[in-house]
Amino acid sequence: MRDRAARVLEANWTGTSTVPSRTLYPHQWSWDSAFIAIGLRHVSSLRAQLELETLLGAQWGDGRIPHIVFNPAIPLDAYFPSPDFWRSSTAGRAAGAPLTQQTSGIVQPPVHALAAWLVHRADPALSRERGFLARVYPGLAAWHRYLLHRRDLGGAGLVCVVHPWEQGMDNSPCWDAPLSRVSPAPPRTFRRADLEHGAAEDRPTDLDYGRYVRLAMDYRDRRYADGGGEFAVEDPAFNALLAASEHALARIACELGAAGTARHARAERLTAALVERLWDPEAGLFFCRDLRGAGGLIRERGISGLLPLILPTLPRDVVAALVRTACGPHFGVGDRVRLAPSYDLEGPAFDPHRYWRGPAWFNTNWLLERGLNLHGEHARAAGLRAALLEVAGTSDFAEYVDPYTGAGCGARGFGWTAALTLDLLG
Ligand code: DGY
Repeated sequence: MRDRAARVLEANWTGTSTVPSRTLYPHQWSWDSAFIAIGLRHVSSLRAQLELETLLGAQWGDGRIPHIVFNPAIPLDAYFPSPDFWRSSTAGRAAGAPLTQQTSGIVQPPVHALAAWLVHRADPALSRERGFLARVYPGLAAWHRYLLHRRDLGGAGLVCVVHPWEQGMDNSPCWDAPLSRVSPAPPRTFRRADLEHGAAEDRPTDLDYGRYVRLAMDYRDRRYADGGGEFAVEDPAFNALLAASEHALARIACELGAAGTARHARAERLTAALVERLWDPEAGLFFCRDLRGAGGLIRERGISGLLPLILPTLPRDVVAALVRTACGPHFGVGDRVRLAPSYDLEGPAFDPHRYWRGPAWFNTNWLLERGLNLHGEHARAAGLRAALLEVAGTSDFAEYVDPYTGAGCGARGFGWTAALTLDLLG
């Protein structure tokens, strides 16, 4: 397994970073790279460090880490939306987009400081020799500053996403209500490249894409200024990953000789704000909060609502309820399914094959396994770990799988699936 997983990462390595998939995603993706670095550290600490350094090399002046860093050697039509759509070097100028690299202008979940800390821990000697933490710390601190200061659109201490691609679970039913208000870009004005490599019934619909394009175009045309868009959602996973990364940044600061206390305190405030704003005790789950339209909690059960389990200072009753929900009828962990689905097994929109509307993903299950272990649920975590390893192998490191059968969907030889397999093997 270890060799097979390492070969996937080798095949996807470009020399400075790792593509999620040679076909479907041929550039560098932000949260993919963070998860990939977490696994890569078991194969090559140097490559894992370079992976994160390359991504940070494309950071914008305002602190945002773009969700895609484009590889100029790849033909423009290999992926949509391509650099000419995002226009980072012109429309992104006000926000400090780099002149030398082409990037997108939206972001993805902040897994990077957590990844940097884990990469350092894998080989502290090499890390110190190369000054790895000192290299990445200023960029990671600026990234968190951007999110905390420019994306707290609700003013309640949580960060907002302004596009479904930012949260990463693109077509989750959690976005159906906020997206329904967005008028789609006409289908003839863009050409999807994803359908050349992925089955249409496993991917978002054309209507979804029309809306993604509209939102991204509007953001670009506002020169990537935050605040005025039609889509603004507080998401539990995005904020939980920020809090976990803020704890990691505190540890990095300590390692560099500074005090980490203020950062730990900030992570605890984020955790408290998550509970205050997004926790629903009756459902035993965190929900997303819509800041546009009529506003309020979006009562769709997505896997995102379980992921605050990765936080160390979550109240005990919340932890207990989350474990019950994970193992109950809606997510079926250790019971009805092989791996936790991305969306409610009993929800009206559940579809076991369509991207984030039901299939199980390896990164979210890896986070769940980590959260279960953190809170002392070792037997459940061990069951999930065994299932993850088995399904990763039988699906040929698929991008995502049918949660009941483990049958692979989307790309094969997918970067974070191979990387997180390596991490679980230890
Ligand atoms: C895609 O292209 O499908 C991505 O999820 C957007 O980053």
